[in-house]
Amino acid sequence: MKPTTDYQGIDSCQSILDNLATAVVLLDRELRVRYLNNAAETLLGVSAKRIGGQRLPDLLPRAEVLHQALERGLTQPQQFTKREMELPLPTTGKQITVDCTLTPLAHVNEDYALLVELQQLDRMLRIAREESLLAQQHAMKVLVRGLAHEVKNPLGGLRGAAQLLERELPNEELKEYTGIIIGEADRLQKLVDHMLGPSRRSEQQKLNIHEVLEHVRRLVLADSPPSLRIQRDYDPSIPELLGVKDQLIQAVLNIVQNARQALQDDGTIVLKTRAQRQFTIGQTRHRLVLRIDIIDNGPGIPKEMQAQVFYPMVTGRAEGTGLGLSIAQTLVGQHGGLVECKSEPGRTQFTLLLPLRDHYEGGNPQHVPH
Ligand SMILES: Nc1ncnc2c1ncn2[C@@H]1O[C@H](COP(=O)(O)OP(=O)(O)O)[C@@H](O)[C@H]1O
Ligand SMILES: [Mg+2]
Repeated sequence: MKPTTDYQGIDSCQSILDNLATAVVLLDRELRVRYLNNAAETLLGVSAKRIGGQRLPDLLPRAEVLHQALERGLTQPQQFTKREMELPLPTTGKQITVDCTLTPLAHVNEDYALLVELQQLDRMLRIAREESLLAQQHAMKVLVRGLAHEVKNPLGGLRGAAQLLERELPNEELKEYTGIIIGEADRLQKLVDHMLGPSRRSEQQKLNIHEVLEHVRRLVLADSPPSLRIQRDYDPSIPELLGVKDQLIQAVLNIVQNARQALQDDGTIVLKTRAQRQFTIGQTRHRLVLRIDIIDNGPGIPKEMQAQVFYPMVTGRAEGTGLGLSIAQTLVGQHGGLVECKSEPGRTQFTLLLPLRDHYEGGNPQHVPH
């Protein structure tokens, strides 16, 4: 925290306030910023040093709801909270949603008129949603694996018995039926293997994510007409990642194949990579996270299906298995990451988030971009 005043009582609370996740701003009677903590600097995208004694309404010129609340705070003696306030930020042009609590201080201290607390809601909603997503996916995974094992065991016996029967049949025509049993048993076997996912524990290695993406791009393009375009928007400074190459290829491939099917081989897929600092996946906050966006301009995922696309067996295609995304989520999860999706007609975006930093703690600092 950088106090814009030398008031002693505030000074002594600096470290406490600076460690709060809630943004705290202190204003005087003219609504000039006299103090803001670290969380407020981050949230508003301003530096305490640089704003001097500027007025908060001038720092956030488009935040009219906040302006009204501040005026009200100056005239009434009770604390109040304005929920789900939209706050347009001038520095980034973005709009965030906050719960804003105003506490009049005039009766406590002459220098300060108002205490402003801002709690960003979007961030909390995102974390909560991811937690429940991860829990759901874990439960589904356990269920599917259990089911797959139960199906797999009797299948072998079924197939073996059909083969024996086939040999004993007096009549060639009847073999058509045993053929069907064997063929369908094989099909089920394949499906079950698919549901169980890759079984061998593969080795982790340092890898460049762009090699993974280029591999998938080549695979898909080799098998598509020229009307399908795959554009790249790579950040070449992204450090190497510790991971299992085959698994990451499979995860990305499943998502790109879906995009291609949705586009019916006519449209554009964009592969985009970025490094993101200070990002929370599930409950863990990571210093550096790799973000891969796979964006297509196809028809989008129907609204009623969006919440379930990562579940196994959920498919919108007649010949689909509904396993592609569930497997991608599992594989990325094994890397400590997460797959997210948002979709509207004309733009569907799948985002893979993979932690980078943890593998590099104490590692070679040259891998960390500046
Ligand atoms: N990029 C996309 N655009 C539109 N729909 C999609 C997209 N990706 C996935 N879907 C929908 O999600 C469903 C589930 O995908 P997936 O788990 O890979 O199973 P499958 O491809 O076997 O159907 C698809 O059937 C499709 O309806
Ligand atoms: Mg698929």
